Amino acid sequence: MRLKPFNTLGVDARAEHLITLSRPQDLADTEFDPARDLVLGEGSNVLLAGDVPGTVILNRLSGRRILDDDGDSVVVEAAGGERWHDLVRWTLDQGLSGLENLSLIPGLAGAAPMQNIGAYGVELADHLVSLDAWDWRTGSMRTFSVTDCRFGYRDSHFKTGEPDRYLVTAIRLRLSRPFTPRLDYPGLATALAEAGIDKPTARDVSDAVSRVRQSKLPDPAVIGNAGSFFRNPVIEDGLADDLRGRFAGLPVYPAADGQAKLSAGWMIEHCGWKGFRDGDAGISEQHALVLVNHGSATGRQLVDLAWRVRDSVAETFGVTLENEPRVIEFPGHEH
Ligand code: EPU
Repeated sequence: MRLKPFNTLGVDARAEHLITLSRPQDLADTEFDPARDLVLGEGSNVLLAGDVPGTVILNRLSGRRILDDDGDSVVVEAAGGERWHDLVRWTLDQGLSGLENLSLIPGLAGAAPMQNIGAYGVELADHLVSLDAWDWRTGSMRTFSVTDCRFGYRDSHFKTGEPDRYLVTAIRLRLSRPFTPRLDYPGLATALAEAGIDKPTARDVSDAVSRVRQSKLPDPAVIGNAGSFFRNPVIEDGLADDLRGRFAGLPVYPAADGQAKLSAGWMIEHCGWKGFRDGDAGISEQHALVLVNHGSATGRQLVDLAWRVRDSVAETFGVTLENEPRVIEFPGHEH
């Protein structure tokens, strides 16, 4: 089975079988072996380096509802297979705010907790109350509180703690009727001002976020990509000061206790990679953090380019970038 339609990087890898999961009760009869099989949502956070020797399970569990409503504060529940952006727009239609800064992020609700999606000053962890996940190992459902999820910057228990153990069947988010805009990200306030809006609604913020994203990030429907390919590195304050001294203009943001976050996009651009292309594997000319597939790059070619970029940043800055999407490789099934 061809996987090109099922990953936003558009890698034409193959799987032996493909099954669609549309009812949670079918999980008990579904086999999953992490050594051969793979769960995919919209495939917006994976780089398939080669073929999948077993089965790809597509999470297509659907449904969303208001679970709890005390007037100002509302908990919504969405099944793992709901498209994230559709969920965001649906919550806005219900008069609920909280997710507007996370508009237009590709992927499914069930994938959102994996890397703790975030953008424009907000991350999933700010709103997630709990989630349900199927435990492939015990063959039973388990509920995780937000603490159990061990969220970090683009990180969670599901990503680095026990990858491949759970399939997220539903998430619960706490949202609000009264609206407090979060406009710390400078480009956002500018986008609203440009639209002549000084008292934005949550929908206005969602529209502004969408415009900013569309202007900065390539659309996976037009050119294959998986968003930021690298995380912004978090390093010791002292080292960041040293780098700032040596590289004028390097953006440095404060992070938790004595640490600083650097802009990986700036460092990659500084190394000359922005807009680079080798065959169909490239680095976006719009945003240097984004690895792109111009058409028929293989997973291997994309991985090789990503590691060339990582190595050149390490050589120049002495900082090793970590990939943000998962690079999926089944040994012996390179493509
Ligand atoms: N920059 C460059 N060259 C570039 C791109 C960026 O120099 O080609 C520098 C600029 O100085 C810019 C700064 O980097 O001001 C920050 O860029 P941007 O605002 O686009 O944010 P980012 O740190 O590169 C992060 C997230 C994005 C998210 C934006 C906005 C990560 C890994 N990426 O990018 O998330 O949309 O902030 O909040 O944290 C994603 O995870 O897939 C993603 C797109």
